[in-house]
Amino acid sequence: MSKTAILEVNSEKFELPMVTGSENEVAIDISKLRDLSGMITLDPGYKNSGSCTSEITFLDGELGILRYRGYSIEDLAEKGHFLEVSYLVIFGELPTASQLEQFEKDITRYTLVNEEMKSIIDGFPKTAHPMGVLSALTSALTAFNPRSVNVENEKEMYEAVCKTMAKFMVIATWTYRKSMGYPLNYYDNTKGYVENFMRLMFELPTEPYKQNPIVINALDKLFILHADHEQNCSTSTVRMVGSSHAGLFASISAGVSALWGPLHGGANQAVLEMLEEIHRTGGDADKYLAKAKDKNDPFRLMGFGHRVYKNFDPRAKIIKKAADEVLSTLGVNDPILAIAKKLEESALVDEYFVSRQLYPNVDFYSGIIYRALGIPTDMFTVMFAIGRLPGWIAQWKEMRENKEPIGRPRQIYTGHPLRDFVTSEKR
Ligand code: ACO
Repeated sequence: MSKTAILEVNSEKFELPMVTGSENEVAIDISKLRDLSGMITLDPGYKNSGSCTSEITFLDGELGILRYRGYSIEDLAEKGHFLEVSYLVIFGELPTASQLEQFEKDITRYTLVNEEMKSIIDGFPKTAHPMGVLSALTSALTAFNPRSVNVENEKEMYEAVCKTMAKFMVIATWTYRKSMGYPLNYYDNTKGYVENFMRLMFELPTEPYKQNPIVINALDKLFILHADHEQNCSTSTVRMVGSSHAGLFASISAGVSALWGPLHGGANQAVLEMLEEIHRTGGDADKYLAKAKDKNDPFRLMGFGHRVYKNFDPRAKIIKKAADEVLSTLGVNDPILAIAKKLEESALVDEYFVSRQLYPNVDFYSGIIYRALGIPTDMFTVMFAIGRLPGWIAQWKEMRENKEPIGRPRQIYTGHPLRDFVTSEKR
């Protein structure tokens, strides 16, 4: 039986339908509220507003659950690999062995990026932040692929997915090579996707590049953990931009910009910068903990807290284990990591953090792993973007396939009422 909610305003009652999700999450459907009552709802930051129904990711922030297409993140991180999970997130089912082999092969058909893109990257200063360059280069891909994908054509959509997965990876690593002054290099179609990431980043023309399987494995896991996270800031941006029927590359470029901010994906860079600052100023973690608790100090402990996880972030649990493994296997001994450990231990028993349910989030540990792998700090958010790409594609595809209307929130105007124009000499 379908349920309804009654909203009573000044003795007038409005009946609103309710929607129940497959995990029994309940929403009041207010899409007709304005027509019925002339009123809208107000929810800055969308803390209580669902923007869509979605079959991609289930997240329960109170219980610390994250699942892609019904599979737990723990299971996927342990047994899957990144392209397999990407296929699942984008197309809805785990690929068969032959579908997976084909997917990997089809991605390699698009790994050559147009040489003219190199002149675009040449125009950036070496000091440009890689996320700014990545957003611009992703947008520039629209110039080389001007035809918008027909989402109703399965083959076309599949090819667009493969093309995006291929080209985004290459240009993401080019942002680093540009900053280092290294020659831009090419994807090697005989090697795996994550292996290629390391090669594209670090291989130099002057010497052979030796892969480390522990590193590849840790990166693969990190990418899986970032693959989707339902309607977060960057994903909502991708859906919103795409809702105007802007193309896939243009929508993803907007997602990259949204991810860049330090309250979202940029937090992983901010974590490391914070740890470096603590180290530089004498290593007193408790001083920074006190600053974070001081209401007169705008400082926040980066890598702690989450908009939806009010319990431990399940990704953080998996990453913490991976971080411990990577650090011990690689034999890393780094004072910055010792500070991270001290901060984590102190915050987890501190009344301020405990009462506000502020736990270390995925960015706290991912930054630590990236540092151990020799990835420079300002590339951390680019790493996040590579991992999140399948989620952005899947959400864009779902939004278009569901024929969602253009995203256009309303507002409550709080400015001046109508006033008369006064000429400048009389003001
Ligand atoms: N350090 C200190 N205090 C904090 C922190 C923090 N990192 N995070 C939240 N708080 C405090 C707030 O001051 C507030 O305290 P109050 O109730 O006394 O006023 C309370 O906890 C609730 O905070 P909100 O800002 O309302 O929580 P919100 O859900 O809006 O914010 C956010 C979540 C943005 C992630 C926040 O916790 C934060 O800024 N964290 C640091 C940045 C970070 O790590 N971001 C990565 C998020 S994960 C991701 O994007 C993958």
